Amino acid sequence: MPSSPMTKTQARRRIAALRREIEFHEKKYYVDNDPQISDREFDRLMKELTGLEARFPELVTPESPTQRVGEKLVAGFVAVSHSRPMLSLDNSYSVEELKDFEERLRRLLPGQDIRYIAELKIDGLGIALRYREGKFLQAVTRGDGRQGDDVTANVKTIKSLPLAVREQRDLEARGEIFLPFASFRKINRMREEAGEPLFANPRNAAAGSIRQLDPAVVAGRGLDIFLYSLFIADDEPPTQGETLRDLKALGFKINPHWRACRDLGEVVAYWKEWKTKRDSLEYDCDGVVVKVDDLEQRRALGLTAKSPRWAVSFKFPARQATTQVKDIEVQVGRTGALTPVAVLEPVKLGGTTVSRSTLHNEEELRRKDVRVGDTVLVERSGDVIPRVVAVVKDLRPPGTKPFSFPSACPRCRSKVFKPEGEVISRCLNPSCPARLRESILHFASRRAMDIEGLGEALVDQLLDKGLIKQIPDLYRLKIEDLERLERMGAKSSRNLLEQLEKSKTRDLAKLIFALGIRHVGERTAGDLAGLFGRLEDLSRASKEELVEIPDVGPKVAESISFFFKQPETRTLISRLREAGLNFLSRTPAPAGGPLSGRVFVFTGSLASFSRDEAGRLVERLGGETAADVTSRATDVVVGESPGSKLAKARKRGLVLLSEEEFLKLVGQPSA
Ligand code: IVH
Repeated sequence: MPSSPMTKTQARRRIAALRREIEFHEKKYYVDNDPQISDREFDRLMKELTGLEARFPELVTPESPTQRVGEKLVAGFVAVSHSRPMLSLDNSYSVEELKDFEERLRRLLPGQDIRYIAELKIDGLGIALRYREGKFLQAVTRGDGRQGDDVTANVKTIKSLPLAVREQRDLEARGEIFLPFASFRKINRMREEAGEPLFANPRNAAAGSIRQLDPAVVAGRGLDIFLYSLFIADDEPPTQGETLRDLKALGFKINPHWRACRDLGEVVAYWKEWKTKRDSLEYDCDGVVVKVDDLEQRRALGLTAKSPRWAVSFKFPARQATTQVKDIEVQVGRTGALTPVAVLEPVKLGGTTVSRSTLHNEEELRRKDVRVGDTVLVERSGDVIPRVVAVVKDLRPPGTKPFSFPSACPRCRSKVFKPEGEVISRCLNPSCPARLRESILHFASRRAMDIEGLGEALVDQLLDKGLIKQIPDLYRLKIEDLERLERMGAKSSRNLLEQLEKSKTRDLAKLIFALGIRHVGERTAGDLAGLFGRLEDLSRASKEELVEIPDVGPKVAESISFFFKQPETRTLISRLREAGLNFLSRTPAPAGGPLSGRVFVFTGSLASFSRDEAGRLVERLGGETAADVTSRATDVVVGESPGSKLAKARKRGLVLLSEEEFLKLVGQPSA
């Protein structure tokens, strides 16, 4: 926006227009999952608004989209009374119990037709949102049902929450705040790195986040919200179905998977369907809530002290179970990290049998005080990998001893090392067989060198038979070596050699990732490959040079420089070179054309070009193209009827371009 002098009246008008536009796009992005403009474009609008508000602070209002993150709370949370009690639900666990529920309804509503709305029961925390004249006023936790805490400042940071709704009325909406699995895993990964206790499940993480005193921290957590109840004085919708439609029309996010059911049979069918399908959701859902649809009937049914008579929850089988710890093993990872693992008496959990569970690290193990012989509560939630939540201390048999963490590597016996302030002990021996096994598996993995067929069983055999002692030995394997191994016929041996041959031509980005440098993930590997272009250049880079790279902090820089200084690394690299691996990046250096450093992916059909033509345009300007949204992709051009790449791109927060924006970028007249 030009910074020419603007009168206050002009600013007021522009600010109002910007807010409307930003609100519209926030809703499209966070509520409807249907973005209309690129992130870059959105940031530009936000920046313009922030700039104007800074110049005219008197025009800032609490509902401005710039005001989602407010001041820290110093005195903690204030208790607030609920406008009407926030009840809980009766639980049922079987079709029989559900039939009992319906029996009761029939007794109380004799001869009436009863219809239901079935919704997913979101495993989060209940929240009441108050709006005055259509503007967000206050958010209150459930608390004891009569009184909750005022968590307004924190709830305001949730991007899918409308700060103003479509109608300028007083209303209260209720729903569930939850943490999507992706955010949950991210938070726990960060906590693990920082040596902080991990959250047991997304619900605890959501509850912990909403109780943070600093809204800026909450804003970074990735919370989300679904609404399911609405109270508007003198104008209540006649049914639950209408309530959900009204909530949506007002601009709230509702869970899209609700269903109107004519009878209990349809409710049971819905429950059965979602019992399996819940595994494909991006958030935790622990059952179905069955609600009488008609609000008139609801009023007749009334409430008990604890819960309404018109609704019941029908839980899914638990993903929690108790079982015994038979042993505690310590595994050695690729980077030498020692991870304690509980060996469990096999137990069924959410459809699979669990017999092992990670205990993360020494700290975590000590905090939970898990001992051999203990009964433990295990949970599978969000992660495919089950976790030990807690020890059932009452069931601890006499004579157990706290687990003593080894001071030597359980595989190679060299002394383990735990740097000051870190929680992870490591084996530092680079030729430790356990580390080598994991390094080879990582090297061969799909996201690294992508050597199909080189899995655990084969790597174990190759190591046991002494056929490989270091990664480069892979490239000296002969057909006779392979054919002699178990389950390796002539055909699979030939295939493996072909795969190894093919892996020699992989891009530098993949090779850097495959080397398994600590803290260097796929994305950083891509950045490094693009910037340095040659493995030798990267290996000679100083810490100072490395920290200059965006997204490379001192820790990552230190780790890269340490890795390349090791004599073992030097040998490794020169042997890989001898084997004929590609050490060059196909990513052009950023000094090239205007699009250099950017990798474009296309999804959907373009009106003006074929994909090949569009790709050539990009390349002519120094950019690159990729077939899929990989870690290197930077921009996604979204054509007509986009495919799954769009969702992936959104997840990764990539720049989304419409065809028109793309045309502008490559300097072509629009169609
Ligand atoms: S309706 C009178 N609908 O489950 C209570 N609750 O165990 C009416 N919940 O406190 C609640 N998803 O926090 C309702 N679709 C849904 C829900 C839901 C999750 C929570 C809610 C409630 C708890 C009851």
